[in-house]
Amino acid sequence: MPATPAPLRILILGGTTEATALCQMLAGNSAFAPTLSLAGVTKNPALPTLPCRVGGFGGREGLLCWLRANRVQAIIDATHPFAATMSHTASLTARELGIPLLRLERPEWQATARDNWQYVPSIQAAAHTLADPAGLGKSPLTVFLTTGRKETRPFQAAPQHHYILRSIEAPAPAALPPKTTLITAKGPFDLAAELATFQHYDITHLVTKNSGGSSTFAKIEAARACNLPVIMINRPAVTTSQTVATAREAMTWLQHQGAATVRAV
Ligand SMILES: NC(=O)c1ccc[n+]([C@@H]2O[C@H](COP(=O)([O-])OP(=O)(O)OC[C@H]3O[C@@H](n4cnc5c(N)ncnc54)[C@H](OP(=O)(O)O)[C@@H]3O)[C@@H](O)[C@H]2O)c1
Repeated sequence: MPATPAPLRILILGGTTEATALCQMLAGNSAFAPTLSLAGVTKNPALPTLPCRVGGFGGREGLLCWLRANRVQAIIDATHPFAATMSHTASLTARELGIPLLRLERPEWQATARDNWQYVPSIQAAAHTLADPAGLGKSPLTVFLTTGRKETRPFQAAPQHHYILRSIEAPAPAALPPKTTLITAKGPFDLAAELATFQHYDITHLVTKNSGGSSTFAKIEAARACNLPVIMINRPAVTTSQTVATAREAMTWLQHQGAATVRAV
């Protein structure tokens, strides 16, 4: 009887719903030995029933050591589209060690004819647009800021506006613009709740990253329904890694990697 092949050792760089979906598909599958890695930015994250590690690796050197020590055979980079540092490091390190890497990244949101989006290349550019808001409407504005708690400081350069900041955890008060109302909440959000938020705070503008996906899409629909302008932050430069959009496709790729590894033994 042929020996059962050893499970494929996988590192999944996570922090997204796509990574969680892939972990759920892999859990209990004896063909794979996955480890999920989280940066550790969220307190009490929902962890899947498979091995997890939490915290940075310590840059390229740290990741290199970890991959060697754990004899990783395949990497899934399922980090958020704006987690550019981790993606870049993973892509470089995988190439250096000859480990196959797949990028799992949800597609961008696309504007429709009913949307009024102003595209900017970065958080800093979004803040700069608000600092000198000629053409954006009657200042001061009421800005729904949904770019995360770590990136509020640039908006101190546009202190004239009222910011409704929504984040999973509260940011450091020193990093906030002066007129900020904080909402701590975690998605998914639905359209009715988003419309209620827009109306309750009398929001005039939405600032968002082009994160894609469904769990936070309702704010885009709400802005569309209320005919409000959106300052849309484009994704950072893409990596050159092979990319798929769904956990199902990543699973198929892993099955191919597993089969290729068995053939190579
Ligand atoms: N940026 C966003 O808007 C956003 C939104 C939702 C979720 N997230 C998730 O939150 C995490 C941090 O995002 P970020 O924008 O701060 O990333 P980043 O700027 O690309 O990464 C900063 C550092 O955090 C560590 N890191 C990031 N992701 C990691 C992971 N999955 N496992 C272990 N270490 C990780 C790495 O530290 P070392 O150099 O020490 O290895 C990396 O250099 C990511 O995993 C991402 O998927 C980000």
